[in-house]
Amino acid sequence: MRKITIIGILFAFISSFAFSAEVNVFSARHYDSDIQLYEKFTSKTGIKVNVVSGKDKALQKRIMEEGADCVGDLYITADAGRLGAFQAKGMLQKAGWSKAIKNVVPSQFRSAQWTGIAKRARIIYYSPERVSANELNGMTYEGLADPKWKGRLVIRKSNNIYNQSLVASLVKNNGKNSTANWAKLVVANMARTPKGNDRAQIMAVAAGEADIAVANTYYHALMLSGKKGAEQQEAAKKVMPFFPNQQDRGTHMNISGAGMLKHAPNKSNAVKLVEFLLTAEAQNHIVNNTFEYPMISGVSANELVPGKDMSFKQDNKTSVKTYGAKQADALEVMLAAGWK
Ligand SMILES: [Fe+2]
Repeated sequence: MRKITIIGILFAFISSFAFSAEVNVFSARHYDSDIQLYEKFTSKTGIKVNVVSGKDKALQKRIMEEGADCVGDLYITADAGRLGAFQAKGMLQKAGWSKAIKNVVPSQFRSAQWTGIAKRARIIYYSPERVSANELNGMTYEGLADPKWKGRLVIRKSNNIYNQSLVASLVKNNGKNSTANWAKLVVANMARTPKGNDRAQIMAVAAGEADIAVANTYYHALMLSGKKGAEQQEAAKKVMPFFPNQQDRGTHMNISGAGMLKHAPNKSNAVKLVEFLLTAEAQNHIVNNTFEYPMISGVSANELVPGKDMSFKQDNKTSVKTYGAKQADALEVMLAAGWK
């Protein structure tokens, strides 16, 4: 009897290992709401989600140093250029995305190695007191170089990945030489030496330090929500969003996305997690916590985010896959222009 019990316990012990399902996520996204989503996934599937959080550079360094010993399955980050550049280093593998994923994520927002899970736009914010509708009429990213904006523009540093992806899209569309010239003119238009995050650019326009700013859509919603305090909420009310390039290729889009790591030990569970993140339930959770746009159709963006009805023209011509490929050129032209 006793022997049987011991064998029984031993069997249960071994089988708990053999059947324990998990997926390891290395995430540079800093949202508590992501953790709540992973918990929902676990309760639905029994697959445990282990999360390693960190900044992109630290996570990438760790993944590369650990090589084949790295237990990471998915690398989750908030910029397509980062995913593309990490793929170019050979650190991602073909994910084998399922039909469920391919059917809901438009092809310009995914590659064989990574896929978007939410969208964002990098747009212009302006002071309605100091910028007229006429001045903004037909405004484009290219138009940021117009001398009429001299001393009126704020945008963050060239080392910022969102700027690198935006400028990469300009390199792709207009060529490197043209974009190098553009960067010089943009630097000449800056109201101050670049500093601060996206929210700080919106604050600068609200405070009258500049008339226009470049920032991502979800930051404006975050400020309006009051989650960043009354001062930022008030500042957010003082600026208006403007979606550039509506008359040509559309507004610059970027993604939060997940890439399949080269040595992923739990690949099929990782695909299942990404499938879950692309369900209406998960997408609703994401858009109402991070104020990003949904990756899939049929889900509404949060009320506070500019362009919430998604009626603005998105740049669907420039695949986000090109951001990684043109990232080095983008940084080079910005630095050459003296963009701090
Ligand atoms: Fe961000």
